[in-house]
Amino acid sequence: MIKIAPSILSADFSDLRSGLDICMAGSADYIHIDVMDNHFVPNLTIGPVVVKSIRPFSSSYFDVHLMVTEPQKLLNPFVESGADGITFHIETIKDPGDMCDKIRSTGVDVGISLKPSTPLENIIPFLDKVDRVLIMSVEPGFGGQKFIDSSLEKIKSLNQILNKYNLEKVEIEVDGGIKLENADDVISAGADALVVGSGIFKSEDPVNQIIKFKDLARL
Ligand code: DX5
Ligand code: ZN
Repeated sequence: MIKIAPSILSADFSDLRSGLDICMAGSADYIHIDVMDNHFVPNLTIGPVVVKSIRPFSSSYFDVHLMVTEPQKLLNPFVESGADGITFHIETIKDPGDMCDKIRSTGVDVGISLKPSTPLENIIPFLDKVDRVLIMSVEPGFGGQKFIDSSLEKIKSLNQILNKYNLEKVEIEVDGGIKLENADDVISAGADALVVGSGIFKSEDPVNQIIKFKDLARL
């Protein structure tokens, strides 16, 4: 079963509880939380205080995507705020293996992400330390961008690499520019989880939109 992870970056920030209710009403699998520090990416979003405040209003899996230059400093604050999985960017850390171990030691799931321009080869040494790889299919920083088509090849190659090393249990999550129109291609390429922001929250009926993505994911 392919998982659907609505990104609350595109939800109404003045009413995040309603955003969570939408995700629960549509039976979304994860809540994707985009953390940006205005340094690694040119945007500033959600900190641990906000995650802690919304935690009591959802029992869903909180999938925290750290787009920050010093993820090691934010690890414990986000774990204590109620994250279920923490994903960091390989471009931000000198010793990604150590960062994976640090996340693992907190008890939450370990994710590693890479920008569209970062070669897949860079993450290979760490694949046996992670629960998920988050492939960015847009430049990180903003919702509502167009899907970069070459990401499909990257997803396929990652699938082959995971098979080769008997690491099929590692989840391939894809983030950016996914709409109902291209979700099939992303799934066929081998994605296990789809992050969808504007494709859900900027639609007329976000709950129904999640249900449509879930239906696609079931086929
Ligand atoms: C971009 C974020 C994404 C974003 C996806 O930096 O990591 O999670 O919210 O939004 P859409 O689906 O609108 O591209
Ligand atoms: Zn994200």
